[in-house]
Amino acid sequence: MKLTLKVWRQPGPKATGKFVQYSTTADEHMSFLEMLDVVNEELLAKGDEPIAFDHDCREGICGSCALMINGAPHGPRKATTTCQLHMRTFKDGDTIVIEPWRAAAFPVLRDLVVDRTALDRIIAVGGYISAPTGSAQDGNAIPIPKEDSDLAMDAASCIGCGACVAACPNASAMLFTAAKVSHLGRLPQGQPERDRRVLAMVQQMDEEGFGGCTNYGECQEACPKDISVENIARMNRDWVRATLSDRGEAVASAGTG
Ligand code: SF4
Ligand code: FES
Repeated sequence: MKLTLKVWRQPGPKATGKFVQYSTTADEHMSFLEMLDVVNEELLAKGDEPIAFDHDCREGICGSCALMINGAPHGPRKATTTCQLHMRTFKDGDTIVIEPWRAAAFPVLRDLVVDRTALDRIIAVGGYISAPTGSAQDGNAIPIPKEDSDLAMDAASCIGCGACVAACPNASAMLFTAAKVSHLGRLPQGQPERDRRVLAMVQQMDEEGFGGCTNYGECQEACPKDISVENIARMNRDWVRATLSDRGEAVASAGTG
């Protein structure tokens, strides 16, 4: 199939970017990233700069392939990462617009690559447990209700791609943060730090410059892992609970001082 691509090219973080048009031919069995590989081979053959884009596993698990395709994060197919999107989704003669994620907290580094370390910093302040879980059989020795393990597993499937941020009119990172908070907060091993975790991760999310959630729901629609907005409600409940108990402790210690 013959395609016209309009690709955001930006040589560096401070440079002015612009759309550049390319023509290419793709096979319907190619993945979207393989189609870009071919375009880059054509550019290199002409002595031009290849298009910079993020990718790693190409199996839908690492969350690297962050592309806005025709205005949709990861393109038009629901619950599908860019690396698992196939060119048969498009038609011969189509024009495809390819952009980086647009959010103040995700500055463009080059072309389609953005800096998503803000998400890593949210994890670093609380997205872990301190309880030693031992080897695999020790981890399995703790009985966990099926409903809890299912919900934790669903939340754990978040790959940290940032599509939820890119889709949200407020550039909110609530779905990502909520998935991480829900994943650990639902398990017995996650209880010791449960209050501290939600307070620290929400605070870091705000400090990174992500917007607030005003219930648009675009995040859930764009998520390649079908993470539900119910996780946001769960995180909000945890945050209120932790805030009250935190204040309670602060008031108690002020009273004894
Ligand atoms: S919640 Fe979904 S869209 Fe957001 S980072 Fe996780 S996997 Fe990506
Ligand atoms: S390259 Fe890893 S999820 Fe797409």
